[in-house]
Amino acid sequence: MPRTGAALGAPVGRREGLQKVTGAARYAAEYPLPGRAHAWPVPAAVARGRVRAVDTAAALALPGVLAVLTPDDAPRLAAPDDATLAVLQSPDVPHRGWCVALAVADTPEAARAAARAVRVTYDTEAHDVELRPDHPDAYEPEETDFGVPGQVEHGDPEAAFAAADVRVDVDYRVPPLHNHPMEPHATTADWDGDRLTVYTSSQGGTTVRTVLAELFELPEDRITVVAEHVGGGFGAKGTPRPDLVLAAMAARRTGRPVTLAHPRRQLPTTVGHRAPTRHRLRLGARADGRLTALLHEVTTYTSRVRDFVELAGVPARVMYATEHLRSTHRVVPLDVPGPSWMRAPGEAPGMYALESAVDELAHALAMDPVELRIRNEPDREPDSGKPFSSRNLVACLREGARRFDWDRRDPLPCSRAEGPLLLGTGVAAATYPVQVSPSTATAQALPDGTFVVRVNAADIGTGARTVLAQIAADALAVPLDRVRTEVGRSDLPPAPLAGGSSGTASWGWAVHEACTGLAARLAAHTGPLPAEGLTVRADTTGEADTDSPYARYAFGAHFAEVAVDTVTGETRVRRLLGVYAAGRILNARTARSQFVGGMTMGLGMALTEGSTMDLPFGDFTETDLASYHVPAHADVPDIEADWIQEDDPHLNPMGSKGIGEIGIVGTAAAIGNAVHHATGIRFRELPLTPDRIL
Ligand code: MOS
Repeated sequence: MPRTGAALGAPVGRREGLQKVTGAARYAAEYPLPGRAHAWPVPAAVARGRVRAVDTAAALALPGVLAVLTPDDAPRLAAPDDATLAVLQSPDVPHRGWCVALAVADTPEAARAAARAVRVTYDTEAHDVELRPDHPDAYEPEETDFGVPGQVEHGDPEAAFAAADVRVDVDYRVPPLHNHPMEPHATTADWDGDRLTVYTSSQGGTTVRTVLAELFELPEDRITVVAEHVGGGFGAKGTPRPDLVLAAMAARRTGRPVTLAHPRRQLPTTVGHRAPTRHRLRLGARADGRLTALLHEVTTYTSRVRDFVELAGVPARVMYATEHLRSTHRVVPLDVPGPSWMRAPGEAPGMYALESAVDELAHALAMDPVELRIRNEPDREPDSGKPFSSRNLVACLREGARRFDWDRRDPLPCSRAEGPLLLGTGVAAATYPVQVSPSTATAQALPDGTFVVRVNAADIGTGARTVLAQIAADALAVPLDRVRTEVGRSDLPPAPLAGGSSGTASWGWAVHEACTGLAARLAAHTGPLPAEGLTVRADTTGEADTDSPYARYAFGAHFAEVAVDTVTGETRVRRLLGVYAAGRILNARTARSQFVGGMTMGLGMALTEGSTMDLPFGDFTETDLASYHVPAHADVPDIEADWIQEDDPHLNPMGSKGIGEIGIVGTAAAIGNAVHHATGIRFRELPLTPDRIL
């Protein structure tokens, strides 16, 4: 099996790069179909209750307004599995910002004016959006998404903790976080009789088609989903969101193609967010640093519309050897907008808390935090008892420590100053599971000696087209420029979503199979190819995680250097380093971009990003990028991402693990640990804004 082709691993630039920087790449709202209209949602102005009446007269009297859809008259849909998609189907208002009417007009401006002119009256009910661990409705889920247990316990953690030589018992808090992809959620919908075409911003067009077929009760072959270019998603576009359903309803009502592009300020209540988490961490250790008890208890919220649990306690089941382990989740259903996936759901907040607590334990033990982690390396996954397919966390820690001159670090806090600045360094580990899903792909050989690979993959800015071409060229043993890839259309072979850091593994596996099959066919073929060429299709199952005898994870180590200004309270990151062990790296350039992107998001999580729930109002306070602060270029210092070469035969034919999410995991802890090293003060609530530091 050719796994040594020059194309695989090479730092190839992304194929759509020129199109993107010249504005030629088209996004979902940029299909100017003839007669296209625009829709603008009317968000609920109460936090809980029912719509009593929608007065559309003033809106309909405005110029260019075509229709206003209301809960009374919007097209009826079949009940969706995901209740957040049942928009305009009932007068119930489950949270502030829920769509209660939809204005449709000739231009976006006219639609916006019409939406503002709609008069909605409500019967208001008392709402509850406050995360209180003792809430009477709080529950402890046994099983969550994808069958992950909500509660895990091994041994007798309480007793082991009580008996430990050294104990750390600390609480950490992570606020709600918003995905805020650069391209807001958008859909252009176009009906032709009972055929529906949507151009939509999605991480998985195959799912979009399935959901549309269910909602509108159409056969899938009458639906085409185009998601050619996607300006980021970070989980918020992992499953369809209301823009898709609303655009399709508006297009059906008006008989015109309709674009709905959510204004930025509607995203926090509409597309999902990372739920806030509270963490109680108890670590018990012997004097030599060996963990004897690890308890990670998480409290979070979910919405009453749709259940979603931020599984922040899960990495505690993976990271460190301990006989006595508890990892639990307590969930409070509230009248909040539905939380959902955001980059490394679970791992990102969970590893912030766990890796901060490990640093606290290192201080309690007066032990180096790198050495403490190395001392607690498990030889098997603590929860499942399975051997790791590969685990090079120690190599990542050692390599990072070497590059960061960790040996020369004075472990004492407050040991370095520059005028009013206190300097410090910190470390944290990272992990993310290896996931893979069934996919299909075709590979076609053409008479001119070129090849076309087709798969309904989503390129959300990662460079999927490029890496799939590399996988194909490698399997076919042909030069990269002879391979073309087609992705982002539902008439291509069906494929799973770009999520869970599993896209390349899942699609690539099918591409690899199709191409090796095609290479064999070509080897046996004599004479010229027919005009339509030769095509081979592959259906891969991916090997389900639960079927593998191995525990499969990527690992990494993050190192940060910070300067904390004792006058302004401002923390600046001076240097950030990530060293990863993520299987074989298939494109050194685009992989580095994903690592750096994840680390940048982790930097935001540490220092600037955070949303607050306004309790009486029942909505987030920070709803735009002027108030929800994502890192800007000036905030992002020298960031280095590199990796250990890892040869793991238990993954997929490419030997790759996922890389899209691990960069955010542990980065906030490394920065927080560096702030402690700089200042001697332990801040246990993110983000570390100046008001908290001073
Ligand atoms: Mo990722 S949060 O699985 O898109």
